[in-house]
Amino acid sequence: MKVYAHRGSSGTHPENTIAAFRAAAVLPVYGVEFDVHMTKDGELVVIHDESIDRTSNGKGFIKDMTLAELKHYDVGKGFSPKFKGETIPTLREVLYVFKDTHHHLNIELKSDIFPYDGMEQKVLQMLKDYRLEERVVISSFNHEMVRNFKKIAPQIETAILFVEVMIAPHEYAKVVGADAVHAFFPTVLRPMGQEVVASGRKVRVFTVNEELYADTLKEIGVDAIFTDYPEKMYRHLNILN
Ligand code: G3P
Ligand code: MG
Repeated sequence: MKVYAHRGSSGTHPENTIAAFRAAAVLPVYGVEFDVHMTKDGELVVIHDESIDRTSNGKGFIKDMTLAELKHYDVGKGFSPKFKGETIPTLREVLYVFKDTHHHLNIELKSDIFPYDGMEQKVLQMLKDYRLEERVVISSFNHEMVRNFKKIAPQIETAILFVEVMIAPHEYAKVVGADAVHAFFPTVLRPMGQEVVASGRKVRVFTVNEELYADTLKEIGVDAIFTDYPEKMYRHLNILN
């Protein structure tokens, strides 16, 4: 079972920051996950929430601020004073960290609350610039965006994200045009989990920070977990088991 660093090494570093990504980039884990929003001036930035309120020393929605405005805020010192000076990274800055590493990149497009028109095309162009098309999976809770992305770039892996216990999500994934299923941890413990695994479609599970849960998911046969503690989880899965 593979391990993805969720929002970078976010248990030990401020989530979705260059510090968290640099820490993940030196780990032997399979991949890294991060979240993308779009600014008022159309720049792609890596941050989890629609607003900067929770993770920075500022307030406001990403969609209402320019990149230059966003760069004024600190997203490190709230986690620990030693990360003071971290700013919200652009997608380009994050891709740069991984351009020469082996890591598979899960780019989560956070367009389920605000639509971010044109985001798919901008992300695709950047992946082409960095020649990363074969090393990414594009996921979203916004399944219209997953469908759109698959239409414009059929060669790039896609995934639907969901938190509900669903009936045959692997069948639904076909409708959307998604290659993989990214599911919320508890749903995979239901019959649905085994059904999707049996379908042969990749199942990746978020967010798994307990070793015991990781062991259970390994038994079920999921492809990968997203974890805030990638180093700990990698060591557990590769040494103890
Ligand atoms: O992409 C997996 C996981 O990150 C989805 O949930 O809220 O942590 O972005 P969230
Ligand atoms: Mg995410």
